[in-house]
Amino acid sequence: MTQATRYSAEQIKELAEATAGWRGWDLLRLNIRKAPTPWQLEDVSRELLTGKESVLDMGCGDGRVLASLADRYRRGIGVDVSKSRVDRARLSLPMKLRMRVHFTRASAHAVPAPGGTFHLVINRHAPLFPEEVDRVLAPGGVFMTQQVGNQDSRAVYATFGLERAYSPPAEVMLPGTLNVLTEFDYRLLRHEAYDVPMVFGDIPSLLFWMQSVPVPHDFDAEQDAATVLEIIDRLGTPNGIVTNEHRELLVMQKPE
Ligand SMILES: C[S@@+](CC[C@H](N)C(=O)[O-])C[C@H]1O[C@@H](n2cnc3c(N)ncnc32)[C@H](O)[C@@H]1O
Repeated sequence: MTQATRYSAEQIKELAEATAGWRGWDLLRLNIRKAPTPWQLEDVSRELLTGKESVLDMGCGDGRVLASLADRYRRGIGVDVSKSRVDRARLSLPMKLRMRVHFTRASAHAVPAPGGTFHLVINRHAPLFPEEVDRVLAPGGVFMTQQVGNQDSRAVYATFGLERAYSPPAEVMLPGTLNVLTEFDYRLLRHEAYDVPMVFGDIPSLLFWMQSVPVPHDFDAEQDAATVLEIIDRLGTPNGIVTNEHRELLVMQKPE
């Protein structure tokens, strides 16, 4: 018996509505497993930090990444255009960090900070503005971004008849950022990708992920329930829905 036979289109719609109420990118609620990955942006940042630095997170979301690194820097600022995400980042921040970690509602293309302020600028899965990165980085400072690769979850996209996993707006493109910062004489420290198997352990996690990304761009539970059943049928295994995770990493250093 395939997994799909256990669900009706009506149940998929109900589950999609229920999971749409989950807030933000709360990975703790997601039942997702993946093969070991060669790096994660958080670990690469940790290796560089010594406890003395000022760090900027561009497009910080709920602030989880910046907060998780706080024992490794002196001062941290996260900016995000979304009011609800900035509110959430502030509320989630442990009291003991509130004097030296701040979250501000602002676009990453106009960071409210003087030029040359930061030793490390991180950007995880958020739009890229290389000119602004260059303005706010101190000489010798490092810029680091992890982005979702265009082969991410390709089997899920293929079921929707979509060729590319991900079509980011121009400013998000990692190659464009690499080109601009290379023109600014930045030194390339790392430019890598990984592509590993990834499993959604339950259907609510798959549906939450689809609506968050979103996949497809105009996800609509009513019209997409049949395709979700097809995904469960095609990719379902006793362990869950098997797909893949594709990520890219770029690390560049500003000249002294
Ligand atoms: C996929 S989420 C990633 C959040 C966080 N970096 C993380 O890894 O969990 C992308 C974030 O970028 C933010 N964002 C989109 N455009 C932005 C912009 N122009 N300036 C700042 N933040 C932006 C969104 O509000 C969202 O929180």
